[in-house]
Amino acid sequence: MNVVLGITGGIAAYKTPELVRRLRERGADVQIVMTASAAEFVTETALQAVSGRPIRSNLWDKEAEASMSHIELARWADVVLIAPATAEIMARLASGAAADLLTTLCLATEAPIAIAPAMNHVMWSNPAVQSNRATLEQRGVQMLGPDHGSQACGETGAGRMLDPDDIAALVFGPDLGGRPVEGSLSGKTVLITAGPTREPIDPVRYITNRSSGKMGYALARAAAGEGASVILVSGPVNLAEPRGVDVVHVATAEEMYAATHDRIGDVDIFVGAAAVSDYRPADAREQKIKKSEETMHIELVRSKDILVSVAALDDAPFTVGFAAETENVRDYALGKLQNKKLDMIVANQVGRDRGFDQDENAVDVFWDGGEQSFGQAAKTELARDIIELVVARYTATRGADTQPALPKLHAID
Ligand code: C5P
Repeated sequence: MNVVLGITGGIAAYKTPELVRRLRERGADVQIVMTASAAEFVTETALQAVSGRPIRSNLWDKEAEASMSHIELARWADVVLIAPATAEIMARLASGAAADLLTTLCLATEAPIAIAPAMNHVMWSNPAVQSNRATLEQRGVQMLGPDHGSQACGETGAGRMLDPDDIAALVFGPDLGGRPVEGSLSGKTVLITAGPTREPIDPVRYITNRSSGKMGYALARAAAGEGASVILVSGPVNLAEPRGVDVVHVATAEEMYAATHDRIGDVDIFVGAAAVSDYRPADAREQKIKKSEETMHIELVRSKDILVSVAALDDAPFTVGFAAETENVRDYALGKLQNKKLDMIVANQVGRDRGFDQDENAVDVFWDGGEQSFGQAAKTELARDIIELVVARYTATRGADTQPALPKLHAID
């Protein structure tokens, strides 16, 4: 795989020689393109030594352009990775600027682009940065992280560059064109529901909820990254489709139910991450309802529970549910695990500023005889942890040949 690695001027640039080594260990050819400020944090000499190629940094370098022009370089790339990606490069990419070699390359390439943001947590949460992130994501730029933790500035929060090992693994994942030769889910089919549903009241109005689909999409990427063949049944969301995943778009709970059952036959693992509307208007009107009385009533009827229906199948796949609760998370989650006859449930607290439409979350996972908590982290990272746990439990209960080590279990009374 040909990787163009763009390095921009953040302190995390000091980790890039290690990143280059990790990429090369996995078989990548790495061509580094540095911005001027990156050179304040890491030397060309070190990067040239680990990448084995002359570093490119100047759009106007006649000699370098003569041997491989920036357009040829853009074509050469199988993936363009920017790590670390500063707030500045995100703003320039979002605006479509092309004043230097790296931004010009990003406009000229047809290869997937992935960026690993790294900055102070207050900068990361700044609305301008978040708006650029959303714009880039909508255009299909892959966000690798950032991670949550202690930062070079001495503070703690979201904004750390992902670990070089994790970045290298993601670059070779399905989203960026590669496929792991052998993952812990190779040969398995995983079906995931994600996002909200939309229940029409009339042709212009509907009932929905605050689910963004981010967790379900991250789970689909994580499962595909482990070599699974993934079907993602998605409600209406504003997210780029994960590469290499079979995405089925639906709107209503009934459509989600049908799309799931149409495909459940060969599924080994089912994950119900969607926020399915529990009720739908009994009678969606053909024409727009006109206002008249001071109050009005809409009769709602219960939707079928997709998760319960899958878990009840004779040959049910390993079934994982989600429980988003505003209170009593643990009790409600354990109740659902039992009542819905699930193999596992992932519980999280939701509220005004928690859970829904956030990039981060914290979850508690329960199964018969055990539980594990995952603290506040990027949903992309949590998704990988959850999939790892699902694989461990799936292997333990469905008797595959190899049994990966189970995480430490704590008994539930
Ligand atoms: O009972 P509750 O809706 O809280 O359960 C949440 C879990 O059930 C989630 O995994 C959700 O995807 C699933 N669910 C479903 N179909 C429904 C309602 C919930 O699959 N109609």
